[in-house]
Amino acid sequence: MFANIRTSFADLGFNESNIRDRYVFESDPAGSFVLPTFPKRKAETITGLDVLVHLFMGQESLPLDLVEQFLGQRCFSGLREVNLMRLEDEGATCRATVRIEPVKKLLVCADLFPRKSSSKKIPLRSDHVYRPWDFSAQMYGRIIPEIPCRSFLEMCCGSAYVCLAAAKNFAESVYGVDINERAIRFAEFNKKLNGIENVTLYSGDLFEPVQSHTFDRIVAHPPYVPALVESLTFADGGVDGERVSTALIREMPRYLADGGEFCSYLALSDRVDAPAELRVREMLGTYGQELDVALLVMAERSPASFLISRSDPTPFSEENEQLQDACRKLGITRFITTALTIRSRKGSAPLTLRHRAVSWQTVRAMSETMTFAR
Ligand SMILES: C[S@@+](CC[C@H](N)C(=O)[O-])C[C@H]1O[C@@H](n2cnc3c(N)ncnc32)[C@H](O)[C@@H]1O
Repeated sequence: MFANIRTSFADLGFNESNIRDRYVFESDPAGSFVLPTFPKRKAETITGLDVLVHLFMGQESLPLDLVEQFLGQRCFSGLREVNLMRLEDEGATCRATVRIEPVKKLLVCADLFPRKSSSKKIPLRSDHVYRPWDFSAQMYGRIIPEIPCRSFLEMCCGSAYVCLAAAKNFAESVYGVDINERAIRFAEFNKKLNGIENVTLYSGDLFEPVQSHTFDRIVAHPPYVPALVESLTFADGGVDGERVSTALIREMPRYLADGGEFCSYLALSDRVDAPAELRVREMLGTYGQELDVALLVMAERSPASFLISRSDPTPFSEENEQLQDACRKLGITRFITTALTIRSRKGSAPLTLRHRAVSWQTVRAMSETMTFAR
């Protein structure tokens, strides 16, 4: 059944480059895009790709006969059988039960965004599973080195698209961990949907499920949004946004094999007493003596500007005022969104570097060749 779905989606051209060619993108080329309103597209120009995109990325309800016609019986019944589509309006229309996004030659299921109910915004559920086409998930997926490695761990894996791509394309044995059990259920489904075997997925808090292992490459896109109350597991990282990231960086060296590397896309803060790269070195403690640290800064913002860009921006709310106050007390001067690479290297004094990254391509090239460490 899963193989049928994969083949049908491939035959209909459901891949990243076709979608980017056919649809108009909003301001940033990596993330959001504008779908032409489906029923208004001229009937003779509709393709099976349009039907898949509008159903699984546009989250639209489409007439059943049109879906059957354009997807074909094999694809349609496959999607119904594994519950990826449900019928509505007494069987007249159908709608997706999850988002499906093509990324790194995979089909990846993640949560739907709640639809607006009249004028009200419906909040995300606390265990919402993050989608790969979100801007930060895309950036993260792009900066991870894709050179072959033996053992690969993705911490905070969510839908697991990065570790599934590693398993498919360049890593021998792959592990993924997420604290959100629902995310791991999505990840297990994505593993089956893509027919991938060499991935083991665990739900648990950071390294707790992989205690006795070491890995050649550890990667992570942790939650880093400042929040007084942590209500969204995928996003919220305590008042400074660094609660999970700090624990991750502190614990990570015990799980890194000799010569291994850690790569992460996250936000950290510069503070009056130390810039982010020196704070990372402090977090590493005595392990840091054998670890190079490179911070490639992709964006910098003042606390005020970073806080209003949060996932639910309410600039004049009491929460925002309190967060700004907390940032002042902690001495936070800037938030930086960064690709952080930490590499195990014995025999010479450890390097600590910070560069401004021009693009994700620069970051990827630097982390793959480790030119910063030469
Ligand atoms: C920003 S999302 C990234 C998801 C996925 N890696 C991606 O890029 O699409 C952060 C993920 O970290 C997970 N997470 C949060 N706290 C965690 C913890 N203490 N241990 C493991 N995973 C955690 C969340 O459930 C969420 O899936």
